[in-house]
Amino acid sequence: MASSRLLRFPDGFLWGTATSSYQYEGGNTNNQWYRWEEQGHIRPGEHCGKAANWWERAESDFALAEQMGNNALRLSVEWSRIEPGEGRWDSQAIDRYRAMLTDLRNRRIKPMVTLHHFTEPLWFADRDGFANEHNIRFFVRYVTRVVQHLHDLCDFWITINEPNVYTALGYVLGSYPPGQHDLLRAQRVIRNLVQAHVEAFYAIRGLQPEAQIGYCLDYRLFDPARVHSPLDRGLAWLHQTFFVWNTLQAAETGRFTFPLHLLMPPIAQAAGARDYHGINYYTREMVGFDATLPSAMFVRRSAAPGSVYSDAGREHIAEEIYPYGLYRVLKSVYRRARGNKPMYITENGVRDAVDSRRPQALLEHLAMLHRAISEGIPVRGYLHWTLVDDFEWAEGWGTHLGLIAMNPLTQERTPRRSASLYGEICHANAITGDIVERYAPQAMERVFGRL
Ligand code: BGC
Repeated sequence: MASSRLLRFPDGFLWGTATSSYQYEGGNTNNQWYRWEEQGHIRPGEHCGKAANWWERAESDFALAEQMGNNALRLSVEWSRIEPGEGRWDSQAIDRYRAMLTDLRNRRIKPMVTLHHFTEPLWFADRDGFANEHNIRFFVRYVTRVVQHLHDLCDFWITINEPNVYTALGYVLGSYPPGQHDLLRAQRVIRNLVQAHVEAFYAIRGLQPEAQIGYCLDYRLFDPARVHSPLDRGLAWLHQTFFVWNTLQAAETGRFTFPLHLLMPPIAQAAGARDYHGINYYTREMVGFDATLPSAMFVRRSAAPGSVYSDAGREHIAEEIYPYGLYRVLKSVYRRARGNKPMYITENGVRDAVDSRRPQALLEHLAMLHRAISEGIPVRGYLHWTLVDDFEWAEGWGTHLGLIAMNPLTQERTPRRSASLYGEICHANAITGDIVERYAPQAMERVFGRL
């Protein structure tokens, strides 16, 4: 009975995992994240160190991705290696990336390369990074250099990863470098990041007209804690608008949403400056007014009661596993961007050290993705965050998002059940009743009935 159930994905659909340089390569000591870590801002005693040691052995993990039937892999190049000092370029770093991309292509895995994934060289950070709009030219120069040297091996570029997270955590909440709490400055940073994306887009377009170029945002959802409370509804709207839609709209049209457009001049040539939408989606948060929390601007953020949670994530809050949110996000982006470009899920995953919730979560998110595709939303690929357990920024090694467990001390890899589940889906380009039966039978109705 169950085996007649089938969700088939479109031919040529891209299946892969997503990674980033600082979280995987190891030995990156020349960027602002390393300094942040050395200053003791993250989980006590933990260091990124060798990370997953990709600088020396990425290829053996690429082999694992190949075995899983992946035909795409997202990785980032590390600006602080390529341009370790201002205007000083390291050709050996480029050679290493060439070797990595070549290996991926030999395995028929399409490289999708991010140019800025949270880290930047110390010399750039010390000039005030993206808080100073005059620094955008340094980013564009670096992007130009990378594309000149790697365009024969890569035709899919993600300019900037999650400008909204980079800004909110670095300039509002202060848990990422430079650890500031300054709303006005944060707005300037987000504007400069969108501007940097737009300029990078045209620089790449000029060098490689056939390339697919875009950026990705974190599409976290915010819902009111008490659905009938006007205050909670207003707060949820504010969070959603400022954290997500504001950036999307600025990147789409060059204009910020009301009332921010009064503060920030429009960004020229933004409209049209992307070939796809990169969607990172993990969870939703409930927000409610709380008079006892003046230090948090009277906002209580929580996970929806009675849901299934992941292990604790950023800010040590357990995150709701909310697959329907992925469908909601895809519909909203499609509507807001007027359905004009293909979409890729550039990140989606679950913090789950013991892999007790990930198999079901993976199946249910993919079922929601399939539902969106079957309703005409042009999603072309899915990249799971992440391949092996990685260094999770301010959370250090304490959170586990890998399909494959990785011990950072021994570098030993141990595939979780989710890795073989994902492998079966990638190989079949489909979710079958038989797969669900074997990995998460309790999800059968939700996967095929799309509850
Ligand atoms: C980031 C990743 C991170 C992931 C899971 C995303 O915001 O782009 O670098 O590892 O979330 O926390």
